[in-house]
Amino acid sequence: MSKAQATSADSAPSHNQLDTKAQAWSALFSEPMSDLVKRYTSSVFFDKRLWQADIAGSLAHAEMLAAQGIISAEDHASIQRGMAQITSEIESGAFEWKLDLEDVHLNIEARLTQLVGDAGKRLHTGRSRNDQVATDVRLWLRGEIDLIGDLLKELQVSLVDVAEQNVEVILPGFTHLQVAQPVSFGHHMLAYVEMFKRDAERMADVRRRTNVLPLGSAALAGTTYPLDRERVAKTLGMVDANGTPVVCQNSLDAVSDRDFAIEFTAAASLCMVHVSRLSEELIIWMSQNFGFIKIADRFTTGSSIMPQKKNPDVPELARGKTGRVVGHLMGLITLMKGQPLAYNKDNQEDKEPLFDTVDTLKDTLRIFAEMVGGQLNPATGKKEGGITVNAQAMEQAVLKGYATATDLADYLVKKGLPFRDAHETVAHAVKAATTHACDLSELPLTVLQGFHPAIEKDVYECLSLRGSLNARNTLGGTAPAQVRAQLARHRARLA
Ligand code: ARG
Repeated sequence: MSKAQATSADSAPSHNQLDTKAQAWSALFSEPMSDLVKRYTSSVFFDKRLWQADIAGSLAHAEMLAAQGIISAEDHASIQRGMAQITSEIESGAFEWKLDLEDVHLNIEARLTQLVGDAGKRLHTGRSRNDQVATDVRLWLRGEIDLIGDLLKELQVSLVDVAEQNVEVILPGFTHLQVAQPVSFGHHMLAYVEMFKRDAERMADVRRRTNVLPLGSAALAGTTYPLDRERVAKTLGMVDANGTPVVCQNSLDAVSDRDFAIEFTAAASLCMVHVSRLSEELIIWMSQNFGFIKIADRFTTGSSIMPQKKNPDVPELARGKTGRVVGHLMGLITLMKGQPLAYNKDNQEDKEPLFDTVDTLKDTLRIFAEMVGGQLNPATGKKEGGITVNAQAMEQAVLKGYATATDLADYLVKKGLPFRDAHETVAHAVKAATTHACDLSELPLTVLQGFHPAIEKDVYECLSLRGSLNARNTLGGTAPAQVRAQLARHRARLA
């Protein structure tokens, strides 16, 4: 039988509630959905995680409908009572989620109608699932962004703690993964603090554009009821810094764009990329050939065949999961690209990538904050079990790489040589040191003077690792004085 053959009179529902999703819209349909199509089109088993946002949105909508005289005070009270019961049913696990009811919205509305009758059916006045779902996702994501902000702060504090303990520890700074110049390990840690600080700023910025109310746009064109959208926005905390309600200004845009979710996933991807770079360094630093650091055993695993192994599984997985989050960004942005205005069912596909991005990012940030900075021991009030630093191994590695060659060139420049000539002179000195298998600082003064007569005894000061470090005392440089100034700035900011 074709859909056209059915009329609403043919199959007027005899009951008072929504039992299946077909009953949610009309009697227009003449044949039931096949199980495969039901499974294909339903989202309830993943979008049920939006339930709190869905109920909050409905309560705000109902409160406004009553205030505007669109529904009665009694109906409003019934809706509140029904939603309170649904909340406790969901919290206790007693709520029965039905695939037949397609999504979180229809499941909750159907139960409400079962509990409070006609009042439940009046809730959907002036509303569509299109503006409802857009509101739910925004409300839910806003809460998650706040949690991510807290976790980003925790991770920054962990990195600042490690930085503070290691301002004077020197490791080789690399370019092209070749030893370049001596760097403070504290300075190196603070580089990541800068990255995560920007990630937190990006999240706060995305939050501003997420925290805007679509509700009241209805299906796509707005509604004929005298809704007070700003009242709903206020109830839901969708307000700007001055407390002014923020409401989507175009109904077509409100129900159809998911750019806030794409932006969020882009910010999450960047944040994961930063975690991934840190992971790569931790993995390199803990390999036997470097031996710069150790991470606590609980973040590593052994090998089933090689008894000596301790593998850095957590950083490796974080590096791997970065690919997964970047994949979600590609998924979401591609989801949007061919859609005509306004809402299309394609948008139901926004949820799983978004949810998985949030879960992955939150778990990763949490685990990194603990792996880097350790866990609070309530007995001592101190954090324990963060990364351990082998300062000696780091210094040994710098000494192997002629990391103070630039300092010798700078020394000659200060004696009057043009930089290019100084560079060439030092290249000869490095060659000689390589032949003697020693560091530049181990070459006798007479040998050094053979490369240039301007070289005097004070050269050894600049050839020492500490001298080299202290000399880079410009803003943002690696000199301990600069690193301490940055530490103080971050501490004040993160307090
Ligand atoms: N589950 C749907 C989604 O996630 C809700 C909106 C459905 N709207 C519609 N017109 N079919 O997008």
